[in-house]
Amino acid sequence: MKDKKITLRDLMKNEKVIKYIKEADRYLEKIGYTEHGLRHAKYVGKTAGRILKELGHPLRRVELAEIAGFLHDIGNVIHRDHHAQFGALIAHELLLEAGMNLDEVIEITQAIGNHHEEDGVPVKDITAALIIADKSDVHRSRVRARHADIKRDIHDRVNYSARKSRVIIFPDKKIIKFDIEINTKISPVMEYFEIFLQRMIIASRAAKSLGQKFELFINGTRML
Ligand SMILES: [Fe+2]
Ligand SMILES: [Fe+2]
Repeated sequence: MKDKKITLRDLMKNEKVIKYIKEADRYLEKIGYTEHGLRHAKYVGKTAGRILKELGHPLRRVELAEIAGFLHDIGNVIHRDHHAQFGALIAHELLLEAGMNLDEVIEITQAIGNHHEEDGVPVKDITAALIIADKSDVHRSRVRARHADIKRDIHDRVNYSARKSRVIIFPDKKIIKFDIEINTKISPVMEYFEIFLQRMIIASRAAKSLGQKFELFINGTRML
């Protein structure tokens, strides 16, 4: 059988893939995590692709980053711990079954297996773009209405306080910027650092591996 050039579009129509993403999100909802479903998957996929595109990487690298981004959290269907590595194995099987060639499958599984802030390493451009896109998704819409516990849950509070979050690429200045707007009446800026410092460190490492400098702005003030 000839290898197929699989794209994000194909996977968005793939029933098995959609089922894994939805079930992984259902599991995280059960254990009290913010939204990690189709909205997060699409955001991370599109953003990872956009990062490589705006940095002038070849089209197929852009497409592979989109796919890695879309699939990156499916490992949560098994457990939150080691979800990056579990997800890599699941993606490996789904992508081979969909007809993708082995070299591309390896690129994607490696990116997914390295996206988590605790043990991930931005080994290649696709991995780096996936890490930056994933860590930039801080937004009010990720707080689950039924579970919103703004008073007691710091993750809910910080996400709920984020009215806007954007990744902006300045290829000429070699800067990747996170631009976040937080309602400090809901969550003080310190709380953002309390839960996201590790994520900012890996995002900064990922930007560096792409030859870019990482900057973090909160409410218009440069923090990193
Ligand atoms: Fe993840
Ligand atoms: Fe994620």
